[in-house]
Amino acid sequence: MSIITTLTRTWLTRTLRPFTFKNEYDQVLPFAECENLGLYVHIPFCKSVCNFCPYCKTLYSKELCDKYIDALIREIRLVGSRQSGKKEATSLYFGGGTPALAADRIGEIIDALSEHFVITEGVGLELHPDNVTPDVLQTLKDAGVTKISVGVQSFRSKFQEILGRKKVDASAMASALAAVPFETVSMDFIFALPGQTYDDLKSDIDAAFSAGANHVAIYPFIEFTFTDSPVPTMPKKEKRALLDAITKYCASKGYARASIWTFTSAPDANYSSMTRDNFLGFGCSATSLFKKQFKINTFDVGSYCERIDSGQLATSLTIRFTKRQRMIYWLFWTAYSTKVKASDFERFFGVPLKKAYGFEFWLAKRLGFFTEEDGVYQMTLKGAFYYHYYENFYTLAYIDKMWGIMRNEAFPKRIEL
Ligand SMILES: C[S@@+](CC[C@H](N)C(=O)[O-])C[C@H]1O[C@@H](n2cnc3c(N)ncnc32)[C@H](O)[C@@H]1O
Ligand code: SF4
Repeated sequence: MSIITTLTRTWLTRTLRPFTFKNEYDQVLPFAECENLGLYVHIPFCKSVCNFCPYCKTLYSKELCDKYIDALIREIRLVGSRQSGKKEATSLYFGGGTPALAADRIGEIIDALSEHFVITEGVGLELHPDNVTPDVLQTLKDAGVTKISVGVQSFRSKFQEILGRKKVDASAMASALAAVPFETVSMDFIFALPGQTYDDLKSDIDAAFSAGANHVAIYPFIEFTFTDSPVPTMPKKEKRALLDAITKYCASKGYARASIWTFTSAPDANYSSMTRDNFLGFGCSATSLFKKQFKINTFDVGSYCERIDSGQLATSLTIRFTKRQRMIYWLFWTAYSTKVKASDFERFFGVPLKKAYGFEFWLAKRLGFFTEEDGVYQMTLKGAFYYHYYENFYTLAYIDKMWGIMRNEAFPKRIEL
């Protein structure tokens, strides 16, 4: 466990108590009382598996994928039927893995969700560049998908080789996207790869917007301990120079920063499954966040299907938050949007932000991480870099540790972070 994350956690949660996840769960989930609820569906299949990727995924087979989706629909009914009427949900995101591999069954999943939820802000779904064909895009659009996100990583073959992926055909992608338009077309890129320069990233961003994207996500490369990627991470100084340069470039082109990692060329383009006060996740490895708890489903496809087939939820671990733990979780993900509104915090927790974390926000302003106007804290360029920097420790201390265990054990007894 990183000393930095332990000290930060102790300071901000005002206790030595770690985040404790236990092998226990509620059969009835408390989402009916949650406002601003997002929905997430995980589809863990890929045609080939990338060695740097930490997500819960397995090799695609039509038979296994169909069996999994049958279980997924059962899980949706199991959870949804425990509330009366339809619950409003802001958004629905399909992540993976590569959910576009199940394009012909996405409509069925959306229909099952629509029996219990009213989705008000559209449906997003992730694709591999190979899936960006007019046929797949049309099937997704007919099913109700309104936003797509394509895992490009880089248009430059040099970096695709480093990542062990194949070259992306930008012009085939552009013509498919022109034939079947979506409200948001996002493209994922990875930055801080060995030898990557400002020009490399700039040309990727330009290529994305000219191939039909109106939103880009630029993820810092993270080396997870349980993956066997040979790619080394870039030193801090170089990384900061690259991130600052690319942020300034996007600003000079008029691309708004929508979150720490994302930029848009259209004001209404958005793609984010993370910045929700509460969310409900379905499928293996999917997480759910409620007012007082966070739960995570098993990572094992076979155990997931077995649990659901026996009429039980596939929850592997649950953490019941203390108030301060929940506040920190909320602040971390709200800050990800680069803006924290004191009024939103008070609405959610019933406590003024100044009373709960007045000193910390004063300090963050003094250190130049935020500016403040009328209770709205806006993250600066410096703040965004340090968020990135800290996020790396957080990922390694929390996500890496948890996912490392969950990949090997379907139902671990307890995890302390
Ligand atoms: C589920 S994948 C996207 C869809 C599809 N499976 C694909 O790869 O094209 C999600 C994204 O996570 C990012 N990602 C995966 N491993 C990463 C790592 N080690 N560090 C940073 N980003 C990573 C990639 O940009 C990838 O596009
Ligand atoms: S990066 Fe995408 S295609 Fe590669 S293993 Fe991860 S989810 Fe699958």
